Amino acid sequence: MAELKPVYDPIGQHHAIPGGLKQYEEMYKESIDPSTRDEFWRKQSAQFIDWIRPYDRVSTGGFAVGDHAWFVGGQLNVSACCLDRHLATKADKTAILWEADEPGQSKKLSYLEVFHGTCRVANALKLHGCRKGDFVTIYMPMMPDTAMAMLACTRIGCPHSVVFAGFTATSLKDRIVDSQSKWVCTADVGKRGSKTIKLKEITDAAVNDCPNVERVFVFKRTGEHGVPYHARDVHMDLVVPKMRPYCHAEAMGSEETMFTLYTSGSTGKPKGVAHSYAGYLLFAAMTTKYSFDLRDDDVFACVADVGWITGHSYIVYGPLCNGATTVMFESVPTYPDPGRYWQMVATHKISVFYTAPTAIRALMAYGDEPVKKHDRSSLRILGTVGEPINPEAWRWYFQVVGDSKCAIADTYWQTETGGHVMTPLPGVTPMKPGSCCLPFFGVEPKVLDAQSGQEVAWSKGQRADGVLALAKPWPSACRTVWGDHERYMATYLDCYKPYYFTGDGCTKDEDGYYWITGRVDDVLNTSGHRIGTAEVESALVAHPAVAQAATIGYPHDIKGQGICCYLELTKGITESPELLKELKGAVRSAIGPFATPDLLIPVAGLPKTRSGKIMRRILRKVAAAEEDQLGDVTTLADPSVVPLLIAKVKQAQ
Ligand code: WTA
Repeated sequence: MAELKPVYDPIGQHHAIPGGLKQYEEMYKESIDPSTRDEFWRKQSAQFIDWIRPYDRVSTGGFAVGDHAWFVGGQLNVSACCLDRHLATKADKTAILWEADEPGQSKKLSYLEVFHGTCRVANALKLHGCRKGDFVTIYMPMMPDTAMAMLACTRIGCPHSVVFAGFTATSLKDRIVDSQSKWVCTADVGKRGSKTIKLKEITDAAVNDCPNVERVFVFKRTGEHGVPYHARDVHMDLVVPKMRPYCHAEAMGSEETMFTLYTSGSTGKPKGVAHSYAGYLLFAAMTTKYSFDLRDDDVFACVADVGWITGHSYIVYGPLCNGATTVMFESVPTYPDPGRYWQMVATHKISVFYTAPTAIRALMAYGDEPVKKHDRSSLRILGTVGEPINPEAWRWYFQVVGDSKCAIADTYWQTETGGHVMTPLPGVTPMKPGSCCLPFFGVEPKVLDAQSGQEVAWSKGQRADGVLALAKPWPSACRTVWGDHERYMATYLDCYKPYYFTGDGCTKDEDGYYWITGRVDDVLNTSGHRIGTAEVESALVAHPAVAQAATIGYPHDIKGQGICCYLELTKGITESPELLKELKGAVRSAIGPFATPDLLIPVAGLPKTRSGKIMRRILRKVAAAEEDQLGDVTTLADPSVVPLLIAKVKQAQ
């Protein structure tokens, strides 16, 4: 625990919580106390949601069987809450500010333009047969059309499944098949750091194996590549302008599925985490407002990708539901130089900036100069998400980027939680570098003993270490794993009944502040990307040269965690640099470039127990150069593999 003394936030009062910590504590209590909570959520939902039909009950069900439901009986339309309801007062306000890959090529779209664009896309989808309830897979780059495609789906009541445009054809195909999408939206190409990614080509490769896909809607990013078209393709640049700029907004039930997003877990293939309309939208909108103290004149820049949950909640739905100006950033932080973010802050007068610790650490390595040469006086709030932030990076972000004048929001949450579950509130919560501080409204964290599942006793002045569970459903707690509620129960709700299990380790400190210590399951968090060790291993063993593989995360200065794979090669195969390169390529093409292993280490034998289970604990310690803390190795079937392993890792590092 790096620092226990809180840093008081310099921004002054929180707009919506002017009474500071005391008011937060009152509101928090109101949000979870059974006698007041319905009223709390009733008031909040009235602020953010235009109900088409009022709901009958605020919440029902719970984590015991995973039947938790919010605003039951209500009907709404998410695109209408994000667009239509702002038109009377904000038609000309910039809704989406697009910063293209090449600096200087930004574009502003007003609320009216996004409304019209969304309606036209929705009408084009309908024209080609897409109907309420059909899944639409969206495999698109960071361009305004992508946000409009998502909003168009919500307009006509089609759940979307956005697949990050860095995934390969195989991963895309698996996700199309799992969600049974008949409709796919893509673009000709994507641009990132001057590179061109041939999205249409990848989509074709995926869709060729998906006989259920009826249409591929192709949006134009550059038009410069002569991509071959098929009968199933729809040229959106030709069709969309012909569509009417009004489309009826379907009345959707609060609990109908709004979207799925595939995410990695400990075992098996990625699962489609399902969120429903009302609870998700409310929580995305509320957290955007409170966690970032959002104001009407803010320029809000979340520089994540819409292909991840951060982009769903904090590029598209949260900011737009609040009527804010949201930035979509197409490029990478180091293109054309490591001052790109700050140049963008200066150009667009960005006031809220939200990124991942891995990007902060990568930029820190270039020193202060690329930051300081740009005017950052518009910045008020700096957010981080995706992994624990080390206090050194926190301080650099606070002192250098924010000139010690901005609040830092270290927001802890997950794809499954839909929005922030723990975060300091600017101007309200005294911050501690590296801690996600206190729970958001409606969220009840519990630190449990991993073995017994009992809550670890805590009182002021004491510390509690364990694993993190959340006690009661909050509005955007994911509802199920698409098509596999049993897996949902097994992964999240059956482990520490009757709580939701996050998969993260956690410490509650002397002041009651929470510190996330990282995943305790077989999920890696590398550069803020979640990757299941099982996914990497299955890509490796699919190669004939690999007999067995074990993947673990190890500390990495920039990425947080690096990916280290230990390999037992097939008999008769000898290791060579070419083979290792080929194996890295196998993982890249099975999952995507972001999953490329940092270290591939062929070993004579993996450390296994007598029953054949790989002892990952030993592999982790060796990769982290903590071989003095191996613990008990006497249960190994063959302890002599350990010194060989250590020698091999030293050589590889
Ligand atoms: C980690 C991203 C520490 C955590 C929104 C979680 C964090 C996983 C933080 C979810 C944070 C996210 N501090 N750890 N502020 N934010 N994590 O689903 O391990 O891509 O379980 O969602 O990221 O990753 P996911």
